[in-house]
Amino acid sequence: MSVQLEKREHVAIITMDRPEALNALNREMLNNLSEVLCNVKTDNDIRVAIITGAGKSFVAGADIGEMAQLNVEEAKAFCHLGHTVFSMIESMKKPFIAAINGYALGGGCELALACDIRLAGEKAKFAQPEVTLGITPGFGGTQRLPRVIGISNALELILTGKSMNAAEALDIGLVSKVYPQDELMQRALDLAESIAQNAPVAVYGAKQAIRRFTDAALIGDLDYEADMFSRCFATHDQKMAMKAFVTKEKRDEFKGV
Ligand code: CAA
Repeated sequence: MSVQLEKREHVAIITMDRPEALNALNREMLNNLSEVLCNVKTDNDIRVAIITGAGKSFVAGADIGEMAQLNVEEAKAFCHLGHTVFSMIESMKKPFIAAINGYALGGGCELALACDIRLAGEKAKFAQPEVTLGITPGFGGTQRLPRVIGISNALELILTGKSMNAAEALDIGLVSKVYPQDELMQRALDLAESIAQNAPVAVYGAKQAIRRFTDAALIGDLDYEADMFSRCFATHDQKMAMKAFVTKEKRDEFKGV
């Protein structure tokens, strides 16, 4: 199982655990995450969850090798799978904390964005590098990123594909705290425990009320994102760029077709 679930009293620790691929999200991993989230949802002992990554990465994005094989329809289904799983986090009444221990790229940044509170270790790296692979963000980035950091910052990140460090992410409000790397998990646990001590009905109600405000139009907007994402899979540029990543060759210039 590429996603681990550990329970410490009222806190669940969910670890994305495919370190040989820097925890890149393939379909199997998304399905594993969905299963774990169902367990978190139905376990009445769990009041708060933390998501983190095994090894040096939080999640280095959707699996490029798997995406390189997809046609337009399959890409849309892959995008909907990501939307469905990440929306489980957002729509669950229990709060989720992302403990971002390393690379949070593409789908990894989007996973963190679906969480309620984002804490980073000082080695964390953030990017939405999809345009460098010939695609648009596909797991909610076009919708959640501007809601969190504003339209201008989101456009700059998404249109350049450039990465930023934890201090820069703190500056623009992508994360709420940065901690020394070896303190990150303890700080995330302390935060989770302090939330878990509060009245569950009140905590859950507060999350639901805030999410109602932030996510009013999100479902339709995610469908629009899926259209934009999947149509890239009909292009030469997407095929060329993903093949270059898989074969570790330098990619050609984009042609716009
Ligand atoms: N998909 C598939 N495999 C990946 C991966 C990904 N997103 N990221 C890393 N890996 C694999 C590498 O292929 C490599 O595998 P092998 O050992 O079998 O060759 C292994 O993880 C280790 O990676 P590197 O050797 O590249 O490690 P590095 O330290 O030199 O570089 C990195 C790290 C800069 C993160 C680099 O791996 C990288 O650029 N990864 C891709 C990041 C990316 O573009 N993510 C966005 C994907 S698109 C997306 O997520 C779409 C969406 O919105 C749904």
